[in-house]
Amino acid sequence: MSRYHNVMTLDEFTIQQLRLFPHATGELSGLLRGIGLAAKHVNIEINKAGIADILGAAGSINVQGEVVQKLDIYANNVFIDVLRSGINCAGIVSEENDDVVIFDDAKSNQSKYVLLIDPIDGSGNIDINISIGSIFSVYKRVSELGKPATIEDFLQSGVNQVAAGYVIYGSSTILVYATKRGVNGFTLDTSIGEFYLSHPDIKIPNHGQFYSFDHRYYHHITPALKRYVDFCMSPENKNGPYSSRYYGCMVADAHRNLLKGGLFFYPSVEGKPNGKLRLCYECNPMSFLTEVAGGKATNGKQRILEIQPSHIHQRSPLFVGSAGMMDELQTFLK
Ligand code: AHG
Ligand code: MN
Ligand code: MN
Repeated sequence: MSRYHNVMTLDEFTIQQLRLFPHATGELSGLLRGIGLAAKHVNIEINKAGIADILGAAGSINVQGEVVQKLDIYANNVFIDVLRSGINCAGIVSEENDDVVIFDDAKSNQSKYVLLIDPIDGSGNIDINISIGSIFSVYKRVSELGKPATIEDFLQSGVNQVAAGYVIYGSSTILVYATKRGVNGFTLDTSIGEFYLSHPDIKIPNHGQFYSFDHRYYHHITPALKRYVDFCMSPENKNGPYSSRYYGCMVADAHRNLLKGGLFFYPSVEGKPNGKLRLCYECNPMSFLTEVAGGKATNGKQRILEIQPSHIHQRSPLFVGSAGMMDELQTFLK
């Protein structure tokens, strides 16, 4: 028996899911295939980062006013080029582009989906060889098919997501995506360039041992949240004390929390009232995926997925993770 006995590829899995819907057109499967293809290109580039002179800053500042790394630009171009060439996406919003990128050609205008991406999450980790990721979110257009996509297609609240996920470029490369039906993870077999289903039907444990928070903000958060952080580390925490794990890459923290149980938060801090993370292509996809897996996600007051975005690059505080830990947190925040 070969090692490929009884394993399913990403394409086979998405097409099999499609068969459950008699009127499905296959466009979502095609879009996920495009995302997987882009991720494979990015993965190759990441692996040769050290020798390909793509380390370090590219010398520009993005719309968020942060230093852009060369790999951010590379990955952004790959996602846009691959999806523009394909037939299943009408346009993209990316962390790396000030404005929406509307494809506006005959085949793209017929596509019913739009995509929002953080091409590289955790860019600060690139030149120190620590995990980075890509995050994506898919919506069905609200604008008329046959015409170019519009900004309204991208400014939908997170509950409308059709699919969302991330790719983690870690000790192996794994694509995890959710639809309302479930969350599944696919590991890249780099020898043949194929994603195989490795983590079927992921459920986040109700409680875990990890909390992810950047402690440099400890003195700049609300007294209520401070009490929660103290509780995480306290010997009086009957499930704890919890271990603090913070990679500077939400994808890496979220992936561990998804598999092992845990809580990630990037709250409102002094000087950053809305935290740092972007609602549309960081908070929403991670919150959707976590909720489908059985977890919860809020901005501290409100469910993330119910926030109506008004700007494609707006930020939001984020608390996301195991349901039991989110409930525990809430007793401190209320
Ligand atoms: P990006 O690389 O896309 O800018 O995102 C990095 C994000 C997130 O992944 C991470 O958890 C956080 O920024 C780290 O920020 P701090 O250094 O402020 O903690
Ligand atoms: Mn990011
Ligand atoms: Mn980024």
